[in-house]
Amino acid sequence: MTRPLLNRRLQGLGTSIFAEMSARAVATGAVNLGQGFPDVDGPATVSEAAVEAIRTGKGNQYPPGPGIPELRTAVANHQHRFYGLPYDPATEVLITAGATEAIAAALLAMLEPGDEVIAFEPYYDSYAANIAMAGAARVPLTLRPPHFRPDLAELEAKVTDKTRLLLINSPHNPTGMVLTRAETEAIAAIAKRHDLLVVTDEVYEHLTFDREHIPFATIDGMRERTVSVSSAGKTFSFTGWKVGWVTGTPEIVNAVRTTKQFLTFVASGPFQYAVAEALSLPGEYFGDLAGELKRKRDLMITGLRTIGFEVYQPDGTYFITTDITPLGEKDAVGFCLGLPDRAGVVAIPNAVFYDDQQAGRTQVRFAFCKRDEILEEALSRLAVLAQ
Ligand SMILES: Cc1ncc(COP(=O)(O)O)c(C=O)c1O
Repeated sequence: MTRPLLNRRLQGLGTSIFAEMSARAVATGAVNLGQGFPDVDGPATVSEAAVEAIRTGKGNQYPPGPGIPELRTAVANHQHRFYGLPYDPATEVLITAGATEAIAAALLAMLEPGDEVIAFEPYYDSYAANIAMAGAARVPLTLRPPHFRPDLAELEAKVTDKTRLLLINSPHNPTGMVLTRAETEAIAAIAKRHDLLVVTDEVYEHLTFDREHIPFATIDGMRERTVSVSSAGKTFSFTGWKVGWVTGTPEIVNAVRTTKQFLTFVASGPFQYAVAEALSLPGEYFGDLAGELKRKRDLMITGLRTIGFEVYQPDGTYFITTDITPLGEKDAVGFCLGLPDRAGVVAIPNAVFYDDQQAGRTQVRFAFCKRDEILEEALSRLAVLAQ
């Protein structure tokens, strides 16, 4: 066969680095601080709700296309409880197979071939793939260390008459940058000035440390142009359940639903019931989650600095980006590939999240959503790098 099997738009995307590095962790017995998933499951009451749903036949058959009414109502209540945002569960909430499907469905729905999408670089790996699937072009706005703040003048300068939307992720994976209110307002003003849509990936909305998450939809005039995306995976420590959602105007939700229904149609039936309960947990749950993660963040910052990494303190997410230059290292990809054998630890090279691989060449990301003893074990193994 002379023609490549893979669509030419998708060539070069390769295998997800997360899958590759997690497989390496399993094969070598290394401590896996690569892929972002907690090593302790979320609240037992929430897993019990999923078990109960399966036992009592709730969601074992195809749930309704837009998601079960209980969950759509719970999502709307959550948006109102935390952000004062009113959404009609009947027309303004859509349940998806994780945020991943929500983002894919939104981009496939709203992009035409040739459109441009501006997104922060380094970016979550599915963004580039989804933009390519839609036949659009990605235009990176590079976030630079040590603070990874977006340059807003540069952002506006990147807008052309082909720009269709801004794909914004805050709290930001992998850097841990959390947009301030002023930055959110300034980006919103750019979107309004140039009549752009904003697709906002807020999966780490509850994982912030001393900084408030500001949803774009709360900014004046943004509700009608914002596709808000979030999911249960990070907030409730059930990343395998893949329950996500979109909130937006009926027109926005309808457009996303049109593509979503032909991707998975529906997913995660029984888990939808459990997530509806999880979203109604008391405020204390959300505060405790962030407090616990902040403590783990600080443990890792101190440990990694002691070993000799340059550490960029994250304000959100459960990732820490470091620079390996002070360890005498120049190439994070080679460093991470060798790390399981050298130190028994798996980490992710941020270069894979950049188009311009030079930009993230010496950055390495560690996930800290693990038990303390695992973090301590990883730090004690990484100490060989200091010798
Ligand atoms: C920025 C970002 N968006 C989306 C996702 C995926 O979310 P979900 O598991 O709900 O599909 C992740 C998971 O790591 C992420 O980091």
